[in-house]
Amino acid sequence: MSEMSTRKGWNLISRRYQEKTRISLEDVHYGPISPGELELKLLEDVKGKDVLEIGCGGGQNAIVLSKWGAKSVGLDISEEQIRYARKLAAKESVKVPFFVRNMEDLSEFRNVSFDIVLSSFAIGYVENLKEAFEEVFRVLRRGGLFVFADVHPLADRGRVVRRGKRRIWGISNYFDRRRHTWTWKFEDGKVAKFIGRHRTIQDFFDLLVATGFVIEKILEPEPYSLNKMSEDERKRIPYVELRFIKNFDLWKRIPFTIIFKARKP
Ligand SMILES: C[S@@+](CC[C@H](N)C(=O)[O-])C[C@H]1O[C@@H](n2cnc3c(N)ncnc32)[C@H](O)[C@@H]1O
Repeated sequence: MSEMSTRKGWNLISRRYQEKTRISLEDVHYGPISPGELELKLLEDVKGKDVLEIGCGGGQNAIVLSKWGAKSVGLDISEEQIRYARKLAAKESVKVPFFVRNMEDLSEFRNVSFDIVLSSFAIGYVENLKEAFEEVFRVLRRGGLFVFADVHPLADRGRVVRRGKRRIWGISNYFDRRRHTWTWKFEDGKVAKFIGRHRTIQDFFDLLVATGFVIEKILEPEPYSLNKMSEDERKRIPYVELRFIKNFDLWKRIPFTIIFKARKP
């Protein structure tokens, strides 16, 4: 993926993305319609910990971590996303340093300087994941945690197809790792095209282990039953896009999020 297209794309859609997505400022989120940190408890005690969020977008997770007592830092490749993050941090009265950087190069940060590295729904854009994982390993302290969430490889390769009157998930080819493109469209006509790579669960697993991480958990959270929830309960979901609410019956048949919890031994 060219760094340029991701950066340009996110600069273009940042404003609409932030307007159209409801992202919690009270819970760390692990992606759309999935439980957040308050329920999953993956990060352990964050108080006083040095935490780096890579691909932080509008900075919501880094801001929540700061509210919980962590010394958090965020980085993102898009200037517009970081501009939003800085404004949001000021509005929320927290001090979080935000950097415009590519997560493949963390040379801004010293070796063994973080207790936790976190990423939510940004890894799929990265061309050289080996480089990014090696950088995360380098900046983590011994015993440090690397927790990341991304689109589950089934959802990533899936699309809704019709079989007679029924609508079902169709998986095109789970093993096709070629570059693929996807678009984000907004009603105001803004369209951004992204290029990414599909990776299987084993690809992530193998790369983490080859980098030196010990994998402690792989989670495939069942999406919330949006139809059974009250409006108040829905409001507490840490990350929601309106399109999921419309098609809740389909979205909850496969995991939309996959989360890895890995540790530097
Ligand atoms: C779907 S958004 C998620 C942002 C944020 N984590 C959230 O959940 O709202 C993906 C983010 O990844 C960022 N990104 C993509 N590739 C990146 C890279 N190589 N290094 C740093 N950030 C990257 C994009 O600019 C975008 O802000």
